[in-house]
Formats: sequence, structure tokens, C-alpha cells
Amino acid sequence: MDWTDRHCRFFHRLLTRRARLYTEMVTTGALLHGDVARHLDFDDVEQPVALQLGGSDPAELASCARLGERWGYAEINLNCGCPSERVQRGAFGACLMADPQLVAECVRAMRDAVGVPVTVKHRIGIDRVESYGFVRDFVGAVADAGCEVFIVHARNAWLHGISPKENRELPPLRYPVVAALKDDFPDRVFVLNGGVGANDAIARQLDAFDGVMVGRAAYHHPWELVEWDARFCGDAAGDAPSRDAVEAAMVAYMERLAARGEPWSHASRHMLGLRNGEPGARRWRQVWSDPALKGEPPATVSRLAREAQAALSAGAASATSPAPLRPAPARTPRPASP
Ligand SMILES: Cc1cc2nc3c(=O)[nH]c(=O)nc-3n(C[C@H](O)[C@H](O)[C@H](O)COP(=O)(O)O)c2cc1C
Repeated sequence: MDWTDRHCRFFHRLLTRRARLYTEMVTTGALLHGDVARHLDFDDVEQPVALQLGGSDPAELASCARLGERWGYAEINLNCGCPSERVQRGAFGACLMADPQLVAECVRAMRDAVGVPVTVKHRIGIDRVESYGFVRDFVGAVADAGCEVFIVHARNAWLHGISPKENRELPPLRYPVVAALKDDFPDRVFVLNGGVGANDAIARQLDAFDGVMVGRAAYHHPWELVEWDARFCGDAAGDAPSRDAVEAAMVAYMERLAARGEPWSHASRHMLGLRNGEPGARRWRQVWSDPALKGEPPATVSRLAREAQAALSAGAASATSPAPLRPAPARTPRPASP
């Protein structure tokens, strides 16, 4: 949540054509009582994109899955992994793992409602329950309801006493549990999640599992994604883009956002890792995040960021902090008002 919104997914799709992208979790309440278009709209170029739902009422989940399919999502995923207390109060997320029959009922209702795949993302246990039988029985019940794809965050969710942030680091990762599930359910698809980052690590896990889901590493080191199509998806056809080309495509996207009246910073915040590893990347990032430039057209900010990066990487920066950048508006016209 707050990360893989549509702007983030647009950016990631410029880096990989083939990886499957997931929305943030959208609750059934938000869809049934809120602004559906705000939650579900996306750009066709993001495909294949899966909608993740949070909820625990079979009929509501079925309605929301139907909405998602109508909107064009390629998959509907049910969240059984989120440990936050707010989510628990709504009785969904990871605490649903304690009630496999309810999850099975939810999956059955969603599958009856849509033709696209219905998948489940879950943990390997909740609280201190570490017996393999717990997660095996959960997967068994959900598989009986027809779920074919399980995305497994390979650590327990501790539902009490630690924050969601700690819950993504704290209970140790146990990949062998996911390997045991794959052995016990050979006709189901198991996607490993949790702590997989560098592309060599992804390659190793793909030898053992049917897929890998990458969260934080993909967000913080997006340039790794440009290798994925050729290396992991058997698609060596297209040339990998250059960072300049990706930035230019993002600038064009942000110009379109601004023309619709949405601040372009909603998109730029997701691409701040684009130049990680290049000399002057930090300076480039600082310019894109400079609040004083928020009123400028993205093309201007991009030019300033590239100039600042080039100056720094050429060793032209002075030993003192650089003066705040100010644009030269005459060189880049503002986009027309919407
Ligand atoms: C800020 C943040 C928000 C997250 N939101 C969601 C979410 O909405 N749905 C979900 O299934 N997982 C969510 N996760 C968990 C990740 O999808 C992933 O399971 C977890 O970070 C472990 O994978 P990683 O080590 O590759 O990041 C979130 C993680 C973070 C850091």
C-alpha cells in the first residue's frame, strides 16, 4: 500500500514488459462504498496487472472481483498476508489464515464470479504457530476451492505486539516451508516472496519455485528490472531501454498527468531510484524531489536534474553545497492547460 499505485506500475512497465504487476491492496469496503474509478483505473500499458483485494465476506469479494474483471484486470488476488491491526479489526489479511474454510468460501465465490484467475497471497503461519501442518491445511482447503496459484510470503505474520514494518523483517524467512508446499501440491503454482532481491538470487529461486514476487528490492533498485524479460521471461526480443529513454517516457507521462490537473510528483516519487548506481545519482534525485520545483513542468525539472547530475559526475561541483537550482523557464514551454 502507498507504493504500487498506477504511477509506480507505469514506471515499472517501462523497465519490464513481461513481469506481472500487482496493485496495492484495495478493500471491499473501499470499492463498494467509495470511488471505484479512483481505486481501479489504470493504463492499459500496465498489463498484465493483478488487482489485490482485501476482505472476508464471500459475496462482497465476489462483487469486487467482478468489478475488477470488468475494469480489465488480468487476475484477482486475495490478501491473506497483511498483519496490520487495522486490517485485523476488519477481519481480513493474515488473520484469515486461522479460518481456511472461510478463505475457501471466499475463493469459491470469487471464482464463480469471474473468468480470470483468482489467486491467494499468504504467510506460512500466524503468531507463534510454526507447524507445517497449519499452512499445509490452509493451502489444501484453498486449493480444494479451486485456487491454482499461491504467492507465499515465507515468514509468519505476528499479529500482536509488533508493527507491520517489523512484520516484514522479523520472523525469520523459511523458504523450505514453501518448498514443502510445492512438493505436497505438485499441480499448484507456488510463487516465493520475501527477501529476494538481486537478480542472481531471483535466478536461484526460480530453479526451485514456479515464480518469485519481489517487493522492496524492485522498488528501491528498479534498474534491476531491465534484465528480467530476457533473463527470466524468455523474451530477448526487445532491446532493454536506456535510463534516459525511461526518464523521457516518465516526463511525457507526467506532462499528461499535469494536464489532467494531477501533481506530477505523484509519479516522480516512484522513479527516484532510476539512476541508482550512476555517478551523481543522488544529486539527480535531489532535484526531482526539490519542493521549490514542484510548480515547474516535468521537462524542465528533468533537464535541471540531468544537468546537475552531469555537473557533479564531471567533478564540476564545488566543495560547498550547490546553490538551489532555479529553472530557466524560457527554454521549456509549459504544457497547455487542461
Ligand atoms: C510499505 C509496504 C506496503 C505493503 N503493502 C502490501 C499490500 O498492499 N499487499 C500485499 O500483499 N503486500 C504488501 N506488502 C508486503 C510485500 O508485498 C511483501 O510481501 C513483503 O515486503 C516481503 O517481500 P520483499 O522482501 O520482497 O519486500 C507491503 C510491503 C511494504 C514494505
